[in-house]
Amino acid sequence: MAKNIVIITGASSGIGMEFALQIDAHLRKTDEIWLIARNRQKLKTLAGGLRNNIRVVAMDITVEAQIDRLRDMLREERCHIRMLVNSAGYGIIGDVAELKLQEQTGMIRLNCEALTAVTRCCLPYMSRGSRIIQMASSAAFVAQPGFAVYAASKAYVDSFSLALREELKGREIYVTSVCPGPVDTPFFAIAERHGNALSVKKLTLVTPEQVVSQALRDACLKRPRSVCSLPIQAFEALCKVLPHTLITATIRTLKG
Ligand SMILES: NC(=O)c1ccc[n+]([C@@H]2O[C@H](COP(=O)([O-])OP(=O)(O)OC[C@H]3O[C@@H](n4cnc5c(N)ncnc54)[C@H](OP(=O)(O)O)[C@@H]3O)[C@@H](O)[C@H]2O)c1
Repeated sequence: MAKNIVIITGASSGIGMEFALQIDAHLRKTDEIWLIARNRQKLKTLAGGLRNNIRVVAMDITVEAQIDRLRDMLREERCHIRMLVNSAGYGIIGDVAELKLQEQTGMIRLNCEALTAVTRCCLPYMSRGSRIIQMASSAAFVAQPGFAVYAASKAYVDSFSLALREELKGREIYVTSVCPGPVDTPFFAIAERHGNALSVKKLTLVTPEQVVSQALRDACLKRPRSVCSLPIQAFEALCKVLPHTLITATIRTLKG
């Protein structure tokens, strides 16, 4: 019989790790949870505290050969993927002309390309009732000067997720795009390497526990988007009614 599995990328830290903890605690009928990230040791430590069968899959998902490896593993195991969570991602704050090119293209490679590749690899093994949770961001709602590539990469994730959701409706596979504002995780250690986030943003900081429990609830209810916390829901609503040129100019002014 095919194994029922859950796959989580970015599981070694922050939101991905929290998904692993909450899924492990609440999801029944799962034979194995696959934890993906580059840092094997962190994954092993996390796995040690979980009660389900865990497979540690240490890989860099931006490397094509590693995606091939994932595809081979899925083919060999003939799994049924009940849930895929794509949480691996990073952002770096700074103007396009000032950040290193590799830091910027790296964001696109991980946040967009790798997320697409992992999703595509998993699709043949998903069926009626399966869920896909994609970590986008509230940065997807509007272009962000000083965080341009990251915001654009998350707009890609959100757009890709909403379109994929429609494509998969006939198969009864449901996709949820998760769009939180700032979350208290090690994300900012990388993001603020060259510049700080707007202090007004930090006022809306939420915990990974809040984001993940809301996201799992929304995915369970087959919702297209999960937006945790009132301030970010208000920001989402503003982005629907105000001209984006006005919002981006305001963001730039706040940056000083
Ligand atoms: N924190 C926030 O404020 C915030 C807000 C909105 C959206 N998000 C999004 O939420 C997601 C999770 O962020 P987070 O806050 O949990 O950040 P985080 O704590 O820095 O976690 C990022 C995860 O991505 C993994 N990763 C990075 N590069 C990888 C690669 N090449 N291959 C495989 N795994 C890789 C990291 O593991 P290894 O280093 O072990 O590979 C880590 O597990 C991201 O997509 C982020 O853009 C975050």
